[in-house]
Amino acid sequence: MRVYLDHNASTRPHPSVVRAMARFLDEDFGNPSSIHAAGRAARDAIERARDQVARLVGVGRDELVFTSGGTEGNNLAIRGGAEAARAADPRRTRVLTTSIEHPSVLAAALALELRGFAVTRLPVDASGRLDEDALERALGSDVALLTVQAANHELGNLLPIARLVERAHAAGVWVHTDAVQAAGKLPLELRALGVDLATLSAHKLYGPKGAGAVYLRAGCDVSPHTVGGHQERERRPGTENVAALVGFGVAAERAVEEGGAWAAHVEALRDRLEAGALALGARVNGDPGARVGNTTNLSWDGADGELVVESLDLEGIAASTGAACTSGSLEPSPVLLALGQSPAQARTAVRFSLGRENSAQEIDHVLARLPEILRRVRSAMA
Ligand SMILES: Cc1ncc(COP(=O)(O)O)c(C=O)c1O
Repeated sequence: MRVYLDHNASTRPHPSVVRAMARFLDEDFGNPSSIHAAGRAARDAIERARDQVARLVGVGRDELVFTSGGTEGNNLAIRGGAEAARAADPRRTRVLTTSIEHPSVLAAALALELRGFAVTRLPVDASGRLDEDALERALGSDVALLTVQAANHELGNLLPIARLVERAHAAGVWVHTDAVQAAGKLPLELRALGVDLATLSAHKLYGPKGAGAVYLRAGCDVSPHTVGGHQERERRPGTENVAALVGFGVAAERAVEEGGAWAAHVEALRDRLEAGALALGARVNGDPGARVGNTTNLSWDGADGELVVESLDLEGIAASTGAACTSGSLEPSPVLLALGQSPAQARTAVRFSLGRENSAQEIDHVLARLPEILRRVRSAMA
């Protein structure tokens, strides 16, 4: 039996997504900037996708800039947003973020340091909850942007975005949220949350890889970091990946139509897995009181996470130790280190992220295999 429990790394595009995309790789292959019928068909498809994604996250269609995914989106929103805020007010030269962000956010913050910004990485407690007093102290008239994720990729922790927006706006500071791990998993109304900028990625919500979007609140802007054509109102020039954006749109529409229905099913399976793991001596990393419903991050003392993941893989079970872009490296997860764990502790973490196609039978299969896997890993380490 093959069991896929790595949906925070990527999800299987729904068959209706694949079908919709195929047409735009084949018969309707025109360039959406062309004025003939083939071009118009591609343009209409992109604009339909924009409506579908806008509906998923409760924003206006004109507030979305399509990108190649979450990494590019975070670069555009964070680097472009901070630069635009500094251009509007040259005193705003500081960027605030948290110490548990995705590597693409950490890298964008580093790039801003090279451009003369100071970056403050706000601490979290042992469960990954943000230190809001530290945020309050850091907010001021020198801050250009606060970037804080909506849901953590490794722990599933949910951050209190609406409250953070209120605090930041009181200091005149724009807020960006990396909503890649939240969109499609829970109701997400970006306009109601009050954020100025947000990042989305299609392949975390049963769409294709290589498609995403940045929400740009009306009245808020980003300095583009790619120049070229006039696409996406010049915020992201380049011929659009029509098929992928069409797939993104269909995935968003499906999430609107049926997301709530399967979210409860996924959460029940996650709880079943977690209860079984706790009975096998696991510790839960993160904040069980405020998490997305599909994720559990578990540690077993004395069992190296990388070895557990490799042993699970030998049994046909896909899980991971952390962000896909850092797993495979020998470094312990920066997220778990930020929680105050020692490198040795952090190396024991295993992330299970469930999805709509998982079943109770699969979870029971994993739980049945785990005791032997843990025994083997521990004896290999002894
Ligand atoms: C929180 C978060 N932000 C950004 C990204 C990057 O998205 P993409 O893979 O579309 O570049 C990921 C992907 O793992 C993520 O989990």
